[in-house]
Amino acid sequence: MIKGEDALSVENIRRNLRTKIIGRNVSYFESIDSTNRVAKELAQDGAPEGTLVIADSQTAGRGRLNRQWLAPPGSSLLMSLIFRPQLAPAQATRITMICSLGMVDAIERTTPLWVQIKWPNDIVIKGRKAGGILTELGLKKEQLDFVIVGIGLNVNVDFEDRLPQYPPDMAPDTSRASLNVLASQSTSLSTEAVRHIPRLALLHNLLVAIEKRYQALQAGLTPNEEWSQRLETLNRPVTVTTTDQIITGQTEGVDTDGALIVRLADGSRTRFLAGDVTLRTTP
Ligand code: BTN
Repeated sequence: MIKGEDALSVENIRRNLRTKIIGRNVSYFESIDSTNRVAKELAQDGAPEGTLVIADSQTAGRGRLNRQWLAPPGSSLLMSLIFRPQLAPAQATRITMICSLGMVDAIERTTPLWVQIKWPNDIVIKGRKAGGILTELGLKKEQLDFVIVGIGLNVNVDFEDRLPQYPPDMAPDTSRASLNVLASQSTSLSTEAVRHIPRLALLHNLLVAIEKRYQALQAGLTPNEEWSQRLETLNRPVTVTTTDQIITGQTEGVDTDGALIVRLADGSRTRFLAGDVTLRTTP
């Protein structure tokens, strides 16, 4: 039984919601395969901007790079938002960036934690991943029709033993060993804050923060400067591995479209797009 401050329902989400667009239209599921899958279907059927699809549990939650996204039922924020921005497809990363900054805002407003971002989209606390974003685009005649931002945030997950208890039917093809590796690199807000986090208040703060940042973006403010300041690897030596080369350099932040800027030893700069590369901090 999920308690009041954590219980997600359409009624609870609408009550005390202080936004004009984001989350006004909401679909809640106790369990669904993937909120991104549902949001995409709703967007294709014409759902309005700001539509929120949220679930207490996902049976086929998707992460970046074809990974699974796992969370014990009722523990986390598992949600997708529909945006219909006036942007070119290459600029859609700006939507992801305002959402990761919104996650930072909401976590810092609801908890005593200080949060960083790991390029391209991970929310990290003391080097461990607490959340991530999976963005998917819908195009019409090469124009951006909609953007789905899928947000997974580990809220009240016990990572103390580094292996949370997932229901047996949730990850049939995932071995315990790989879950262990995942868990060793992961954390949750409750683990880091050493206290229970009110999930509904966190959600409300998140929706408000994303709306504010979306309005700023629409008014012409690009988020990359502020985003760069949150970058875990800012001004630190990194190794970037692409399909055909390995490069070492120092990160200088991201540009307006979210590409990572790395300064090489000879002073020149290279720009990397997410999806093409993996990034490691150089010891
Ligand atoms: C990542 O790999 O870091 C991105 C994870 C995104 C997971 C969220 S959970 C809610 C939404 N629905 C999905 O199927 N995935 C995203």
